[in-house]
Amino acid sequence: MAEELFSQRTTTCGALTKEDNNKQVVLNGWVHRDRNHGSLHFINLRDRYGITQVVVDDDASAELQSVANELRMEFCIAVTGFVRLRPDSMVNPEMATGEIEVKAEKIEILSRCAPLPFLLDDGKETREDLRLKYRYLDLRSQGMQKRLKLRHDFIFSIRKYLAGRDFYEIETPTLIKSTPEGARDFVVPSRLYAGKFYALPQSPQLFKQILMVGGFDKYFQIARCYRDEDSRGDRQLEFTQLDLEMSFVKRDDVLSLMEGLFGHVFKEVMNVDLPVHFRRLSYNDSLNTYGCDKPDLRFDLPISDMNEIAQKSSFATFKDIVAAGGFVKALCAPKTEGVEFSRKFITELEDAAKIYGAKGLAWIKVGEHNVLSGGVGKFFAGLEEELVSKLEAKEGDLILFVAHENWKRCCASLSAVRSKLGKDLNLIRKGFEFCWIIDFPLFEYNETEGHWEAAHHMFSMPQTEYLDTLESDPGSVKGDLYDLVLNGYEVASGSIRIHDVELQKRIFRICNFDDETAEERFGFLLNAFRYGPPPHGGIAPGIDRMVMIMSDETSIHEVIAFPKNTAGVSPMDDSPSFLDQQQLDDLHLIIDYPKPKE
Ligand code: AMO
Ligand code: AMP
Repeated sequence: MAEELFSQRTTTCGALTKEDNNKQVVLNGWVHRDRNHGSLHFINLRDRYGITQVVVDDDASAELQSVANELRMEFCIAVTGFVRLRPDSMVNPEMATGEIEVKAEKIEILSRCAPLPFLLDDGKETREDLRLKYRYLDLRSQGMQKRLKLRHDFIFSIRKYLAGRDFYEIETPTLIKSTPEGARDFVVPSRLYAGKFYALPQSPQLFKQILMVGGFDKYFQIARCYRDEDSRGDRQLEFTQLDLEMSFVKRDDVLSLMEGLFGHVFKEVMNVDLPVHFRRLSYNDSLNTYGCDKPDLRFDLPISDMNEIAQKSSFATFKDIVAAGGFVKALCAPKTEGVEFSRKFITELEDAAKIYGAKGLAWIKVGEHNVLSGGVGKFFAGLEEELVSKLEAKEGDLILFVAHENWKRCCASLSAVRSKLGKDLNLIRKGFEFCWIIDFPLFEYNETEGHWEAAHHMFSMPQTEYLDTLESDPGSVKGDLYDLVLNGYEVASGSIRIHDVELQKRIFRICNFDDETAEERFGFLLNAFRYGPPPHGGIAPGIDRMVMIMSDETSIHEVIAFPKNTAGVSPMDDSPSFLDQQQLDDLHLIIDYPKPKE
């Protein structure tokens, strides 16, 4: 028999306890830490499962001593030895294996590690591109190991839950026809058909609808989606959705399924109890109360409509805006220990509001006996009681107003102020606050292109009461649309779909696709709808975003094994990269762009 290459592990580095005392074991793993006291070595050996302390005693053979002296951080080694109890003084209750250690009899170096470009568990301190370039090292850190385990547990639990409720997981293609869904498509040139391109799906939207026409009435898929858009903390060029669709359902069936799913999954993977039903807010109420359609409900701080009182005040800016049909809104920042509502504090809030279009951020401080001071306080003389009671303001609070002709800008500016106050005043409670946002507008006006477009996508059903006024008043049409929001992030979007050719064509026309273009782009869907399509609807939670929030992170890069950086580049494999001339020729591509010198 050929000589063994190395001693193969009999157990992992997270498994041994005092029950294993005196057992002979072999461990394989990486040198996490190596403390060398002359001829006595303490080696923390790490693998995916944990860390075990390995000891090379001072009575070890010269050979073992010499191997131990060679060890450096992140060498990959095999250790053969005996489990023994640690002396009482050295028991480490923080470690699962803290009551034992392994007395080494043999150490084999399986591979060496070059000097480390950064310390593994220092991850967050290290520049992100460096972490991404050496992602294989970064992945060894406890944080990445923990988060990717959570991601696995989450996806596995979802699969079990849905499979147990008659859902089939069905794959859909990743080389498809370019069918714009909101973002720009990534495209793949065809070698066989010069000048033709496949597109990578922005989501499996049309295929899942066609699966419904195909009779698979409960479908899901853990699906990769590709969108050529600017990256942000919660966005990637390629990301993963739990894509799901059902036939013969109404909105509430989809919402209940999701509540059941996440209730089960959060309990199973995090031991967190969620409410049986999530709060529901209409789009209008969400904007009016929290300023946005993805409110963070871990803190209150509601926004109030101040038009009536503003009209009675003597502040001309507010009165003029109300008279012109505009909006005055306010919120009340509670007095907070250790925070001074200084000019600087208010200016920073004003800067946040201005990003979203506010022209200013008017303020008033509430004093003893409702005396108003500072800012625009003087313009509310005689209205003190009304103002204070409307906002439930107390002594020491700070009232902040935005007035704007445009409702959305007014809301969005105060939403930015609310978010900043949430952080600055430390108002954010721990935990997970889900809510549904429903009754979204179906269309949005695209100012740059001068036409209406779908607020979600073009396949969503208008609410029935608007069917007669789609064309005459698109702006007021509400859709059978829903978003799931978690801690201030949109984590899922969905809708009940159109399954009628004529209605689908009307929507295409309103969104500036004439019948010919619609037929050319979406003909396969329209055709399918001519063959007995069932009523259907669905939703797609973003897996990366959800795991990011569950891990208490603010960047989805932290929960993706190999993400692109914010510039859309992967520093590890250096993508995107140039093609060589032969590849370009095969694909019939001519690059009309000067190739930069490398
Ligand atoms: P939508 O485009 O709203 O809907 O996407 C659904 C969810 O996917 C996540 N998500 C993203 N995550 C990371 N990076 C991105 N660039 C990104 N874009 C979206 C979000 C979002 O809520 N086909 C429809 C769903 C449907 O109607 O069933 C769709 O894709 O969490
Ligand atoms: P002014 O009268 O322009 O000096 O503004 C007085 C205060 O009102 C300043 O604190 C401004 O930031 C604020 N302000 C001005 N315009 C608006 C507005 N549209 N909404 C809210 N505050 C405003």
